[in-house]
Amino acid sequence: METHILVIDQGTTSTRSIVFDRNFTPVASAQREFPQSFPHPGWVEHDPRDLWETSLATMRDALARSGLTAADIAAIGIANQRETTVLWDRETGEPIAPAIVWQDRRTADLCNRLTAEGCEGLVAERSGLLIDPYFSATKIGWLLDNVPGARSRAERGALAFGTVDTFLLWQLTGGAVHATDATNAARTMLFDIHSGVWDEDLLRLFQIPATILPEVRDTAGAFGTAAATWLGREVPVLAMVGDQQASLVGQACFSPGLAKATYGTGAFMLLNTGDARPRSRHRLLTTIAYQWDGKRTYALEGSIFSAGSTVQWLRDSLGIITTAAESTRLAAEAADDQPVYLVPAFAGLGAPHWRSDARATLSGLTRGTTRREIARAALESVGYQTLDLLEAMRADMLDAGLEGAEAVIRVDGGMSDSDWTMQFIADVLGNPVDRPVVRETTALGAAFLAGWRAGLYGGPEEFARNWHLDRRFSPEMADDRRSSKIKGWRHAVAQALHAQD
Ligand code: G3P
Repeated sequence: METHILVIDQGTTSTRSIVFDRNFTPVASAQREFPQSFPHPGWVEHDPRDLWETSLATMRDALARSGLTAADIAAIGIANQRETTVLWDRETGEPIAPAIVWQDRRTADLCNRLTAEGCEGLVAERSGLLIDPYFSATKIGWLLDNVPGARSRAERGALAFGTVDTFLLWQLTGGAVHATDATNAARTMLFDIHSGVWDEDLLRLFQIPATILPEVRDTAGAFGTAAATWLGREVPVLAMVGDQQASLVGQACFSPGLAKATYGTGAFMLLNTGDARPRSRHRLLTTIAYQWDGKRTYALEGSIFSAGSTVQWLRDSLGIITTAAESTRLAAEAADDQPVYLVPAFAGLGAPHWRSDARATLSGLTRGTTRREIARAALESVGYQTLDLLEAMRADMLDAGLEGAEAVIRVDGGMSDSDWTMQFIADVLGNPVDRPVVRETTALGAAFLAGWRAGLYGGPEEFARNWHLDRRFSPEMADDRRSSKIKGWRHAVAQALHAQD
């Protein structure tokens, strides 16, 4: 009986597969990490084969652990790290180079040049994005120009491009389907988010041949069938969605004004804006939240590049903690009279600064500073950056004459387990923060979309009724303390940006 959904959640540092039952309950999961490589400063690569092999292995493991077989799976849903760029040979399915990961800054000079030449208006108008190495377009261009023979092979129609969803779908369907969904297409900087088609002017600007592009489909819909070779029986793929949009769905943010923030490697805040596509004047992104039945819903997005990765840095590079949980304990013990600030620009600064050249700074150190204050500064940096995003969102909504972001933000991702950090975020925002019972919102969002299309689940309204609050964090910090801490952060960011000028 086809009663379950199998989700692949392909992320930046690991791949997970989760089996959900018809009550949206995860019944089994499997996870595998894979290596990232950093061949030069600012470069971040994956071996695309790792992405596929870990997807296949975790799907098989999760299925085995659930005690089910492919005959019990109604559909597969895919949620994926976005923007990461893969080019492969259509004949063999073999990648022609390592995947260039969303965090990779190798095309920063080109992006700066295009911005200086005044291309930002066209790019923002069509794609909703800012010119930045984060998005796929300049990564594709780099591969075409630097892998010998790639451009001519692409022009002959011998190569295919995909973000990770598309690459996995190609592998799953044995090369039968070359498609993506609207949320992933919206992150390439080549897609017209208004009309929902690849944009010829952007393709020309970034010198990308249209022959390599996948077909763009609804986020929840038919994506073909996973070959019987993989799970022992054919299974339809009924949803593909960028992971941040998946968690917006998983948090049931279906109405305009609802916002979520996910704290993973980076942190991503998305605010549902419904049909409205406010052009950000505060350096946020306008993006597609989801598309079903051919209808697009939009979101404003603020992306920050270092959240959980800042805690990893404390653990792996500084060695001042051994587990992420230890950072919370240390932060709670930090001395109040030691205002230390960490501006975590390890991969540049994302929204609202978009400075790929910025580098991290640690300031306010005295002879009395200990690892406690440094751990607190790391966790607080996530709160301050969330504040910067929320303020930009509110200002954009006001400018556009739209209702502002709802006062409550729904949070998820690994860091949302830290009560201390969530309380600090509520304090610094001066707004409540809601943490749901189910924090696996990315996989849950993809499961809902695929299960809805498979006829296993009801629609968004029914799903929204299943969203349950675990805990609301209400602001408790005194106003003068909050203002003085925020002032200190702003000063630290200004210094970090100025240091690069
Ligand atoms: O835009 C990048 C984002 O999709 C990465 O997500 O969960 O792999 O950190 P994650």
